[in-house]
Amino acid sequence: MDIQTSLEKRIAQHIAALTLQHLTRSNLVRDDIASDDPLLWVWQQPDRVVLIVNPLRVKNLDALTRPRFTHHLGTVLQGRRIVVTNHRGLFLQVGYYPEPVRELQARPLDLSAQPSALAVPIGMTARGSLWLTLTELDAVLIGGARRMGKTNLLHTWITALLQGAHARLILFDGKGGVEFARYANRARVRVVTDKLSPALGELFAEMHTRFDALKAARVASLAEYNRGRGEGARLERIALIVDELAYALDEPGVENVLVDLTARGGAVGIHPILATQRPSSDVITPRLKGNLVTRIALPVPDRASSMVVLDRAGAESIAKTPGRLLISHGARIVEAQAFFASGEGRAANDASGQPSAVSGRLSEREACVARAAIERGRFVIREIAEATGERLEYVNDLAKKWQLLGYLTEVKRNAQGHKLGRDITPALASALRN
Ligand SMILES: Nc1ncnc2c1ncn2[C@@H]1O[C@H](COP(=O)(O)OP(=O)(O)OP(=O)(O)O)[C@@H](O)[C@H]1O
Ligand SMILES: [Mg+2]
Repeated sequence: MDIQTSLEKRIAQHIAALTLQHLTRSNLVRDDIASDDPLLWVWQQPDRVVLIVNPLRVKNLDALTRPRFTHHLGTVLQGRRIVVTNHRGLFLQVGYYPEPVRELQARPLDLSAQPSALAVPIGMTARGSLWLTLTELDAVLIGGARRMGKTNLLHTWITALLQGAHARLILFDGKGGVEFARYANRARVRVVTDKLSPALGELFAEMHTRFDALKAARVASLAEYNRGRGEGARLERIALIVDELAYALDEPGVENVLVDLTARGGAVGIHPILATQRPSSDVITPRLKGNLVTRIALPVPDRASSMVVLDRAGAESIAKTPGRLLISHGARIVEAQAFFASGEGRAANDASGQPSAVSGRLSEREACVARAAIERGRFVIREIAEATGERLEYVNDLAKKWQLLGYLTEVKRNAQGHKLGRDITPALASALRN
């Protein structure tokens, strides 16, 4: 017997002993019959151990199939996965090793994972990475103590929206340009380092122009308005990103306009995203807060601050690590670890004093697929998978993502309805060049 199997044999015996103990403690073992038969038979499989329960020695077989039992036994067995089946005998199948707990570790932002042009990264959660679109977020309040990663989170959002190239950005930099000046030369971006009110005034006027446009077109939403309109005629979503709300509010009148934009802007594609280091009710007034439907709290010093940001306690007790956050979105509250802004969002201006270009538009693996597609002039999943040696699922997922990003068209069909694959758009070549 090799070392591995002997180790697994020991683990199987350990699992059986703990299970036996748990059954006894849960008062499920019949003590009114004297029997030499064991309570459990142990049957080893390559990836798990199967415990076959002797039905004559258990008081209530049904109790073993209830989720409550599995849950308790899972705890006793240190988080191992348990599957109970009750077909021609009752079987408890237990993995040899506990399920790995996914650590919420800081990771660099991978822009190639962006699922759609308007999606921004929230971070890594216990269930994998979480991205939400600007439309889903609607209007956002971000609060957190000093140096806990508010600006970093905003950088990850800005670089994602720049890559998507579907939204206009107005960036207010409370630190006078230290943080956002690097985006100033980018298309669709306006950086405000001094007074916010002129930009806010224009945005307010734009909101009204948009309301009028929707009314004239007899439609109720931006999506309806944009349907069927060409690139130039569409109304782009606008993210108004304010880093340090307290500074912006120093100017008289700003709060009133922000309240109005937050209350009504969503319907016409205007999305305020307001970050503050001072989660107190004199900065985040109830008037302003009411319509900021998505709330994100990075670590805060006390329960009161958590109440201001999230309307509930919790943010005072998450790990005091930069980027750790709680997001309250819809009825859900999720803990995540924000990605670390990489590329443009991290590096300050390069040696030439020019802002550096967005790096990592395509990963090396994606670039390979892109080259194969451009060589062929068409994107047929089977052909591309064959040419690059990639798995079909990977190529298929990539095709869907690139379709969303506008790098590929939808699947074309011939007159008989047979699929011909997707066409490549110039955006793919441009993503490859970057
Ligand atoms: N998600 C993250 N992963 C790893 N490190 C991070 C993360 N977010 C922030 N940091 C680190 O923490 C430091 C502070 O981050 P950041 O400037 O974003 O915080 P802040 O809350 O905006 O601070 P301030 O209150 O001074 O404006 C950064 O220099 C960065 O190195
Ligand atoms: Mg900051």
